[in-house]
Amino acid sequence: MKVRIALTVNDEVHEALVPVHKTLLEVLREDLALTGTKHGCELGECGTCTVLVDGQPVLSCLALPLETEGRRITTIEGLADGARLHPLQQAFAELGAAQCGYCTPGILLTAAALLSERPSPTRQEVKEALAGNLCRCTGYTKILDAVELAALRMERART
Ligand code: FES
Ligand code: FES
Repeated sequence: MKVRIALTVNDEVHEALVPVHKTLLEVLREDLALTGTKHGCELGECGTCTVLVDGQPVLSCLALPLETEGRRITTIEGLADGARLHPLQQAFAELGAAQCGYCTPGILLTAAALLSERPSPTRQEVKEALAGNLCRCTGYTKILDAVELAALRMERART
């Protein structure tokens, strides 16, 4: 059975006719061509499929699109401000916090949600926020450094 849905993704409304069993991850990638959100375990264990729903991190492999109708979905394609990188993206690029990059979209969005709620998190708070986002390549140190650098720059830009 198919259902027509209208999702607000990165401030644009997208309509699609999709099988009811399709996950948000599948709809984003296959129906809306937003392939920045990555497939990982599809079991809710790796965090690579993370998107934001009303600003909160959600594992899109476990979410159904119908549950997110009328809510604000942000994928990695919506993190930058036009051609201007988000401070997190800038810091990740500068510090080499992404290697293969497969985990990076989910980590960036999770970190963005953290910095919205806690603009100056401690290292421990960053670690806890990112605990559900697994990376196979890095030792996590550069990821944590990059989140802290972005937080510092965002704080400076506010004052
Ligand atoms: S793909 Fe969703 S948590 Fe791993
Ligand atoms: S950079 Fe490769 S999985 Fe994290």
